[in-house]
Amino acid sequence: MAQTRHIFGDLKERAAVFCIAALLCVLPTAELRAADDGQRLLASELLIAQGDLARLADPTLSTANRRGLQARLAGSMGVLPWMLRKAGDVEGASELSGWLEIPLTDAKAEHALVALLSKLTERHGLDTVGLDLKRTAATAREARAIHETYCAGCHDQAENGDPDLELPARDLFLMARQEADVTFLGRLITGIKGDETIGFRNPLTDSQLYALWMLYLHESPMD
Ligand code: HEC
Repeated sequence: MAQTRHIFGDLKERAAVFCIAALLCVLPTAELRAADDGQRLLASELLIAQGDLARLADPTLSTANRRGLQARLAGSMGVLPWMLRKAGDVEGASELSGWLEIPLTDAKAEHALVALLSKLTERHGLDTVGLDLKRTAATAREARAIHETYCAGCHDQAENGDPDLELPARDLFLMARQEADVTFLGRLITGIKGDETIGFRNPLTDSQLYALWMLYLHESPMD
């Protein structure tokens, strides 16, 4: 358990470094969401754990990619019971804690974990109602500009990610088409980090996040 915590710490740090530590400084209009952050992060972590489990089932995944995903999953499994407890779901927390010691090498065990995670997602769904669901021509343009300025350099042309790296950057437009829309939104919520001054939280406003989500779902990378 100490080890899973450790892995999670490392990954958080790495993701924070990779994912636009400077974004906060260059987007002066960004506001911080606060109150619902906990609920959103819990819902996102639950969706990502399911998404990562589904990716692990892909037999074409490289050894390094597999190792990275397994480590990330171990990290999520370490932190999810704590997040569930904080959300008042003591039962869910204790059900999931039981999985910490179980190696996910057995297909039957994996199946049971998928079922548990999807049951927890029913209780802690990602609430898109709280998001500002309006996209105007201006926010669509802004999303494209955010992508081109802050994300494209690492993510465009990355396809499914460098097979030699544990957690490579992947093409965001491709990712958006590979899994459920809401799972990809969860990845956007947790995958974009500000810097340490805001505890590495996602610095985008709801409307920026929404416009970016729509950009990846419905548009294509620039040539
Ligand atoms: C310096 C390179 C870099 C930049 C710039 C960058 N990313 Fe990333 N991003 C990465 C890497 C590497 C990963 C994989 C590591 C991980 O998942 O933590 C990643 C992971 C992600 C993930 C999570 C993927 C998953 O598997 O769950 C999302 C979503 C994401 N980035 C979106 C963005 C967006 C949106 C921007 C621009 C606002 C951006 N990134 C800017 C390198 C970058």
